[in-house]
Amino acid sequence: MKKFLLVFSLLFSTLIFGQKFSGLALTPPMGWNSWNKFGCNVNEQIIKEAADAMVGTGMKEAGYEYIVIDDCWQVGRDLEGNIVADSERFPSGMKTLVDYVHSKGLKFGIYSDAGTKTCQKRPGSRGYEFQDARTYASWGVDYVKYDWCNTSTQDARASYTLMRDAIYKAGRPMVFSLCDWGQSKPWLWAKDVGHLWRATDDIMNCWDCSDKWNNAGFTILLDRVAGLYSYSGPGHWNDPDMLEVGNNGLTTSESRAHFSLWCILAAPLMAGNDLSNMYQETLDILTNKEAIAVDQDSLGLQGVKVRDDGDYEVWVKQLADGSRAVVLFNRSDKQANITVTWVELGYPSHVKAEVRDLWQHKNLGKFKRKFSSEVPSHDVVMIKVSL
Ligand code: GAL
Repeated sequence: MKKFLLVFSLLFSTLIFGQKFSGLALTPPMGWNSWNKFGCNVNEQIIKEAADAMVGTGMKEAGYEYIVIDDCWQVGRDLEGNIVADSERFPSGMKTLVDYVHSKGLKFGIYSDAGTKTCQKRPGSRGYEFQDARTYASWGVDYVKYDWCNTSTQDARASYTLMRDAIYKAGRPMVFSLCDWGQSKPWLWAKDVGHLWRATDDIMNCWDCSDKWNNAGFTILLDRVAGLYSYSGPGHWNDPDMLEVGNNGLTTSESRAHFSLWCILAAPLMAGNDLSNMYQETLDILTNKEAIAVDQDSLGLQGVKVRDDGDYEVWVKQLADGSRAVVLFNRSDKQANITVTWVELGYPSHVKAEVRDLWQHKNLGKFKRKFSSEVPSHDVVMIKVSL
């Protein structure tokens, strides 16, 4: 009976609304999200400063677009059930804040939860989906991240489909970001529901630490998302979570590795640091246009691991122009020489191919059969190989 009801409600909603906004997130979304750095400690000043810095530092120019406020902006509902923002932390109100972000030429994202409460026990959207979507549309919201705490026995597919329909009905195009941490295997069903879905638990600010909830450092999340490459593509991306670059838990080389690998994965690039107060080396990593071009390539393929020699790995992403982006990744604590062969790239072995270093921004010359490079410990060499 339960199954019948679920199939029926999915069919029914497909007939009535039945779509997400198309033409959005044709390349992985890029932006900033408040959670990794600020957690629940958000306010309008922080959001405005992030928007200012996104423009002022050149991040906007490099492609970053969305300013997303995560959990804790909301405190309750009014007598009519409308969601109410925290008036102490957001004294000017949400609409004014969204207008401010828009005035900078940026887009605004908001956070809610499919359950009765968010993960930080703020009001969730359960039972208020259409009303909340209408509110977001009236504020001018462009992006909704939708979490999965306090959902009891709810069915993920039905709940996310319901919010998709609510957003569609509200009539304002919004990117819909699913966040059930991969629990329901959204890559199997969410292609027509959301534009991106978290495929993992939360990222931790470290190389390879983990906790009892399965949250983990980026090298572990990389391994979890690696096998899902066939599910990602324009308008529907695997999301291995936001960036920890600039949050001081990673060395510079580890941050470069994290960023390079997220680009190879065609992962959404959501910066998670304090944009208004970052080191030049953090900014240099976040705005490496040649790495970003790999992430944003129009073909939209998630890269794959073509070689795994224990701590030494080779990752490859085919690009729209036929070239290949390659990351030589050294997980060990010593420098190592890592090789990629043309056969591993799907090229004939005998051809001479041009190699360009995407961090040194330099052509390295033409190579036959293979390319080898020294790679420092916990670092990468990222190249583009073209025929
Ligand atoms: C988690 C989510 C995080 C963050 C947090 C807020 O469930 O994975 O990215 O949104 O909730 O409470």
